[in-house]
Amino acid sequence: MKVAVIGTGYVGLVTGTLLAEIGHDVTCIDIDEMKIELLKTGIPTIYEPGLEQLLKNNLEKQKLSFTTNHATAFQNVELVFMAVGTPQGENGQANLSYIEQAAKDIAQTIDHDVTVVIKSTVPPGTNDYVEQQILKNLIHPVKIHVVSNPEFLREGHAIEDAFHGDRIVIGSEQREAGDLVESLFAPLQIPIVRTDRRSAEMIKYAANAFLAVKISYMNEIANLCDAIGADVTAVADGMGMDKRIGRAFLNAGIGYGGSCFPKDTEAVVHLAKQQAMQLSIVESAIKTNKAQRHRFVEKVLRHFDGNLTNKKIAILGLAFKPNTDDMREAPSVTIIDELQKNGAIIHVFDPIVTNEYSAASLYDCVTKADAVLLVTEWQDFLHADWTEIGKLVKGKVIFDGRNALEADKLQQLGWTYIGVGRERKRVYGFQES
Ligand code: UDX
Repeated sequence: MKVAVIGTGYVGLVTGTLLAEIGHDVTCIDIDEMKIELLKTGIPTIYEPGLEQLLKNNLEKQKLSFTTNHATAFQNVELVFMAVGTPQGENGQANLSYIEQAAKDIAQTIDHDVTVVIKSTVPPGTNDYVEQQILKNLIHPVKIHVVSNPEFLREGHAIEDAFHGDRIVIGSEQREAGDLVESLFAPLQIPIVRTDRRSAEMIKYAANAFLAVKISYMNEIANLCDAIGADVTAVADGMGMDKRIGRAFLNAGIGYGGSCFPKDTEAVVHLAKQQAMQLSIVESAIKTNKAQRHRFVEKVLRHFDGNLTNKKIAILGLAFKPNTDDMREAPSVTIIDELQKNGAIIHVFDPIVTNEYSAASLYDCVTKADAVLLVTEWQDFLHADWTEIGKLVKGKVIFDGRNALEADKLQQLGWTYIGVGRERKRVYGFQES
């Protein structure tokens, strides 16, 4: 099928590349000319494992093209995907200005019947609204149907998720339009959930808010584990073996960041408020998440008896999670800021992201450090030579903000290991269990 994708951010670029790879003819549109020029040459504008190769292959096969021109992109297309950003606006509300602009562009350009598919995360009712807006502003008398198809990909695993997702959600008010979208994805053989548009939109918010709640719940349990002397990783393993709970997303640490959970939890809380309702569980999850970063800094402060003046702190990881260059809502930003306010001297290293405090290598970063903080659990850090690092640092103390390092091994190497919710292990040692 011939498809156009509006927006070349994470969602748009991955969607466009995926659709090309499974045999469709795809044109991606963006207003950013620089981005489009880079993409035309096969250079991805985001860091995403596996993307570059797929991009290059499909450009070569001429299954994928990029343009800033809507008329070019819409020529003979059967489907137009909207994959533009819906950033957090005032009061936590989703900002729909890019969606509105995309709706205008479609209405003013399209000259044949088309199905519009909204991939962007949008509040329930937006698909209805977009359909009305396009119909209202149409220049040519054509038929338009809007279908909701929310995206569930995780950054850093976007390609894997796109090809092997758990489900594809299709929300439509008109059977044929939903069928068309279903047939587009058929080669993927991923289970399909067919529903109405508002339910499809709600599935995305409900899923993200639930996952955020799961993380914040575990972070609260971790804080209690610290207080009573238990190990939250053992607690998570024990809980996770219950199939009704599942082990995924039970990892305590410094809380969630990124482009989705922070924004979508705020948006769903706002949505409830508009209905004079309160989502108190989600509100609490947001509060707990914000507090978790401060708690981590407090741990560092406590270790140094409240005085970080001129202490060199080596921060490992800037990105909000591994395998991405995304810094949106990254806990590292708040943590660095608070440490600096307390007089610490910051050195950082991230395999992909750099800032003004970046050292040339992990080993440069930790040299003469009074403490090392693991903020993003990149594999490079987990498999680093901790014996060597131990020789370079001034103080052999590691604060593991992700509970991702091998605590027992580090202790054997003479490190003081401080995780999140692992106080029992710190006091009694890791070796004995
Ligand atoms: C998330 C959803 O997983 C995805 O389905 C949706 O489309 C977009 O939002 P993403 O933000 O890319 O994806 O990353 P994800 O891997 O889900 O992690 C989100 C955040 O939660 C990260 O900051 C991560 O560090 C944190 N997290 C995750 C935890 O703190 N503990 C966990 O157990 C899992």
